[in-house]
Amino acid sequence: MASTASTAACVFGAVLVSILSPVSSRSERCFPSKAGFKDVWPFDESAGDFPKSVDNVDPVFELYSAGNGVPYELDHKNLNITLDQRKFNPKFATKFIIHGFGNALNKSVWITDMRKAFQVNGDYNIILVGWDTAFPHYIQAVCNSRIVARLTVSVIEMLQENGLDLSDLHLIGHSLGAHVSSYVGRMMDSNISRITGLDPAGPWFDTFGTEAKLDPSDARFVDVIHSNGHLLNFYGGFGLLEQSGHVDFYPNGGQKQPGCSDGVGGGTETFVDKFFQGTMDDMEESVLSAVGCSHGRAYEIFIESIKGGPCRFKSYPCPNLAEFERGICTWCGINGCNYAGLHANPHASGGKQFLQTSNKKPLCGHSVLVAITPAERANALEGSITMFIQGSSGSDAVTLNSGGPIHMWQGIRWKAVVSVTTDLGDMEYATLLYKRQGLFSRRRLRVSKLTIENMNNNRRYSTISEFRIRNEKHVKLMLKEE
Ligand SMILES: *[C@@H]1O[C@H](CO)[C@@H](O)[C@H](O)[C@H]1NC(C)=O
Ligand SMILES: *[C@@H]1O[C@H](CO)[C@@H](O)[C@H](O)[C@H]1NC(C)=O
Ligand SMILES: *[C@@H]1O[C@H](CO)[C@@H](O)[C@H](O)[C@H]1NC(C)=O
Repeated sequence: MASTASTAACVFGAVLVSILSPVSSRSERCFPSKAGFKDVWPFDESAGDFPKSVDNVDPVFELYSAGNGVPYELDHKNLNITLDQRKFNPKFATKFIIHGFGNALNKSVWITDMRKAFQVNGDYNIILVGWDTAFPHYIQAVCNSRIVARLTVSVIEMLQENGLDLSDLHLIGHSLGAHVSSYVGRMMDSNISRITGLDPAGPWFDTFGTEAKLDPSDARFVDVIHSNGHLLNFYGGFGLLEQSGHVDFYPNGGQKQPGCSDGVGGGTETFVDKFFQGTMDDMEESVLSAVGCSHGRAYEIFIESIKGGPCRFKSYPCPNLAEFERGICTWCGINGCNYAGLHANPHASGGKQFLQTSNKKPLCGHSVLVAITPAERANALEGSITMFIQGSSGSDAVTLNSGGPIHMWQGIRWKAVVSVTTDLGDMEYATLLYKRQGLFSRRRLRVSKLTIENMNNNRRYSTISEFRIRNEKHVKLMLKEE
């Protein structure tokens, strides 16, 4: 949210319009008392709906102190309270976790998983914001997100009375929760240290201005993971593809995640349609998580990053996925590499960042950069190349050109970034198989060098001598570390 919204008109003499009365446009509702909710641009696009009353929305705020598995429930109607240090310790960083449409505390396992991942790996004050009470349907939930944000601000103000410093505050919002975080950030004058948007909700928001959705002006540092984004995505995906933060991570391109059969082109349009139009009551959590597999990958990556395991989710600044896969974006820039998830760095390279992850937890990406330098003066080699790599700790086969035919030119290094499923260790040998396509494409090619680089540790292995690629013939190549 970037612009200033006037709240003054609503502070005194607030009239609570019955939620049953017909909605008149260009008017204002005044609950809670300090916030005026208008249905003028950009909020008029939320289908002319107003937020429902505080009593109707009634979110829960569960405060988990460091090491404590039982929450202390904060009552948004009674925030004139003093918290002792066993409940809230201002020396520890404070994390708000705000879920999106269709999720609920204690029902959506990822919320508990994320809370526990924090608690196992450090001392934090954690506040879970539960607002499934505000979900009659998606459009109303979009409107109600403004109420939830206002009440979250009240809770933050209470915590400030109890010693919270905004420079220790981090809001983590998934889907619609990312936009709730945006509204909170705006109401706090962008003084909050950090907002993480986990696949910020797309439907409706793609047409909103930045005033009504997550953008870099909402906090000192806004980092975003896009896992099911789509441009103008009414039915294409659950998330936004557009840049929404200081740094935007696009794992595997940010639209569809490995191992997920949902999302873009997944044939779930009818379901997505029902999801956004219908009520939530008849939808099983298991169905939601299957359909929202790519959408949920953003929080799964984030949870893995909290655990600090072997996956570092190193990313590379790049304009788009195609250029990333063509090996053009292997330099992190002068400010150094960034990392998706908890360890995203405001001082490292920002903007659009690409990375690859695997299809199962802990979701580590194992990107390798493959380079082939043809030795011959020749025209294009056109076809597909599959490559098997044997390493000391694993092996995998990859296709070098999922995006179409390979064109290679004499003396010019041809490159591709591909994802292998495991850490291969020391690379020992590779086997190539070329299948030509097209009448005029070559049957064989002399190659001066093949190089394979592990992008996680920058160790590089290459062939020792010149070799030939032949149509439909396997060629086995010993590799040596450079
Ligand atoms: C807050 O609570 C204290 C003590 O519990 C009380 O003295 C004070 O009047 C309360 N303030 C408000 C604004 O209700
Ligand atoms: C979630 O579970 C905790 C611990 O069992 C409980 O205290 C809390 O009230 C539950 N929250 C909701 C929203 O049901
Ligand atoms: C944000 O910070 C500015 C500058 O320190 C301060 O004037 C303003 O009151 C702060 N706003 C909030 C909501 O904390």
